[in-house]
Amino acid sequence: MTTPSQSVAIAERRQSVARALGRPVWLTALAETPSDAVDGLDGLTAHIEQTGTAPASIAFEAPGGFAIEAPDPAAAFVGEVALVSGGASGIGKAVVEALLERGAAVVNLDVNPAVAGLFASTHYLGIHVDVTDEAGLIAAMGATAQRFGGLDMLVLNAGIFPPGVRIEDLETSAWDRVLRINLDPNLVLLREAHGLLKQAPRYGRVVVNASKNVLAPGAGAAAYSSSKAAVTQMARVAALEWAKDGVRVNIVHPDQVFDTGIWTEEVLKARAAHYGLTVEQYKRRNLLGVEIKSRYVGNFIAEMLGPLFENVTGVQIPVDGGSDRII
Ligand SMILES: NC(=O)c1ccc[n+]([C@@H]2O[C@H](COP(=O)([O-])OP(=O)(O)OC[C@H]3O[C@@H](n4cnc5c(N)ncnc54)[C@H](O)[C@@H]3O)[C@@H](O)[C@H]2O)c1
Repeated sequence: MTTPSQSVAIAERRQSVARALGRPVWLTALAETPSDAVDGLDGLTAHIEQTGTAPASIAFEAPGGFAIEAPDPAAAFVGEVALVSGGASGIGKAVVEALLERGAAVVNLDVNPAVAGLFASTHYLGIHVDVTDEAGLIAAMGATAQRFGGLDMLVLNAGIFPPGVRIEDLETSAWDRVLRINLDPNLVLLREAHGLLKQAPRYGRVVVNASKNVLAPGAGAAAYSSSKAAVTQMARVAALEWAKDGVRVNIVHPDQVFDTGIWTEEVLKARAAHYGLTVEQYKRRNLLGVEIKSRYVGNFIAEMLGPLFENVTGVQIPVDGGSDRII
């Protein structure tokens, strides 16, 4: 297992290569050991500095037999590495797609074992892990550095939406479960990512997928709303603390996104009936009268990680079709 300090050592070397070359690079095949990765990247920096060349692509074979890829940046995130939690379904999956389309290498953490084979790209690494497993998250961060050389973007997305329960009936165990999945792992991921994000050649970026519930809470969702409010507050503190490192942390608050695992046809029908609406009317119950789809939110989050947001940190953006409870 690659330890946190070994991961940071690899990421530091990757940053040096990027400085010498003028753009970020990936490791494209697994280095046998972390020190092979460090040695290989050091050698590459020296090579670039000596020859003064910035070639379109480099296959630098280190003793451990790994290569480094420094392709021409045809797409926004070429050479950069993203880690997404909960990307086997719904919004997280759409984020992974949007990042791959923009050229990033993506590490996807999910409790669904299908995550491992979800995308065929050589720049995709799916890791089957429960986000409540702290040691598993630390190992995943090490695997990210060892496999691709560092971390540039982090998307905190994994979450559950439990059945509605009013506070007078809310069991402590049900409350705990929501916070254990929706909140606690995000501390671990932020903490473990920080050393790597600090070394990101174009500065690290984080997006937290919170919820409209933070700004406009719903009855029956005390645990969910509290978990999302807490992760929002943690992200705001991270924005304050990490600005000196150039790391940006922003928050997105989607309202209901129906093409996700959180929503079943039965729940949708029941909620629509509760308001005396058809399912179609219920899906568009916002000021603009639009349905917000996971693909839209995925692209939105990818853009928040990109150059358009390079001067923005600590903001919260609702993606909800307009809400008279929030405006
Ligand atoms: N769908 C909505 O209406 C909506 C609205 C606002 C915010 N959100 C938030 O968006 C995020 C993504 O949810 P979604 O709507 O795409 O639902 P989803 O169920 O389609 O996706 C959630 C993903 O998280 C994974 N996951 C759940 N528990 C996990 C665990 N313990 N360890 C690892 N992975 C785990 C699931 O396997 C799944 O792949 C959640 O944080 C949710 O709260 C959803």
